[in-house]
Amino acid sequence: MDFKVVPSSFSNATTTVPGDKSISHRALMLGSIAEGHSEISGFLNGADCLATAAAMQAMGVHIEQTGPTSLVIEGVGARGLQAPSHDLDLGNSGTAMRLMAGLLAAQPFDSVLTGDESLTSRPMGRIITPLTRMGAAIESDCDGTPPLQIAGGVRLHGIHYDLPVASAQVKSAVLLAGLFAEGETSVFEPAVTRDHTERMLRSMGATVNSNGGTVRLAGGQPLTGCTIEVPGDLSSATFIILGTLLSQDTEILIENVGVNPTRTGVLKVLQSMGADIHLENPRQFGDEPVADIRVRASTLQGIDVDPEVVSLAIDEFPALFVAAAAASGETRFSGLGELRVKESDRIAAMADGLQRLGIDIDETPDGAVVRGGRFSGGEVNSFHDHRVAMSLTMAATIAEGEVLIRGVDNVNTSFPGFEDCVARLGADVQVA
Ligand code: S3P
Repeated sequence: MDFKVVPSSFSNATTTVPGDKSISHRALMLGSIAEGHSEISGFLNGADCLATAAAMQAMGVHIEQTGPTSLVIEGVGARGLQAPSHDLDLGNSGTAMRLMAGLLAAQPFDSVLTGDESLTSRPMGRIITPLTRMGAAIESDCDGTPPLQIAGGVRLHGIHYDLPVASAQVKSAVLLAGLFAEGETSVFEPAVTRDHTERMLRSMGATVNSNGGTVRLAGGQPLTGCTIEVPGDLSSATFIILGTLLSQDTEILIENVGVNPTRTGVLKVLQSMGADIHLENPRQFGDEPVADIRVRASTLQGIDVDPEVVSLAIDEFPALFVAAAAASGETRFSGLGELRVKESDRIAAMADGLQRLGIDIDETPDGAVVRGGRFSGGEVNSFHDHRVAMSLTMAATIAEGEVLIRGVDNVNTSFPGFEDCVARLGADVQVA
């Protein structure tokens, strides 16, 4: 599937975005191993989370869809998962695979985790190393990529782990294994990463301490099912924010967006480029902070992006590259090495797409230098990466001619209905 984008602008509107992907995955996994039932609303019905749901169902968990975005999960408790009768295919989802490896390392049965072409080329050594230190038995392909063969029936013990790279997925894999381990597990993160796992574990009754960059939990704590209202995904809202900033005289209100401080780096970077973005009506959905985001079309200036913000905006750099390309002057990005091992090599993918649209961008090993300019029409490749596809779609709305964005099927992994959402706001985006 491709998108054909004709130059166009958003008009004033109020909108929402689908539920948070990270929180939806965690609701499924933690709800499954909790005691009692959990009611989830605002769930992201995207391909990634549906793969997690199917995997939990394959292990005997009853999950019922009770509305378009609501689910009831009948938790089976810490010892209630059953051996799946087939390999668990987690599609495009790194979060599903890494978190589930932590969960499955502690089960009494063997399991195999696999995925699509992108996922089966992503590094899993980063979870195999700490989980093996906890006593897990996990085999991957010789280059550390999936499929993962996880042997059951081992006893895990708590460890202290210093994360070599800031990664919420690795932190969460170790914490989930730690729930089943003997003794205490602690993880030190070199930079703050999203803390949805810690917050949801607490909502389900576990004691999890976070202090000075170290998260600790004791093994053997039972979880209790609860009600989870999933906020809108700030990572998806970013594309609406970007489209609004690039529009003419437009103001958009995006309601009910998660604004957990471990995720809001993108807002800080855009604001320092001159973006007119305000948070309104701050409130809580359970343990997660939520707000409405008001954004107005803005003139952006290039900046040096502080590498300290990287882990707080890790998924938003494709969109930030587009903002930089539309800004006046030069924007320098550094500290983005992790982007090379996401759903695609996002530095290379965005450099390729922006160059094809006539933007002057130099790739560096861990970032890029982007010189603002005008986008020409043309044809670009999304490299089957949802966030690259959506970022280039927003760039295309201000191009001087029509843009064809190739291979956009995976947009459905995180933002089902993206093309309808942006078309309702005024963008001329069609499925080609
Ligand atoms: C996620 C963590 C991030 C992010 C991913 C979702 C999560 O990955 O890029 O989209 O839900 O924990 P890393 O933790 O590997 O940086």
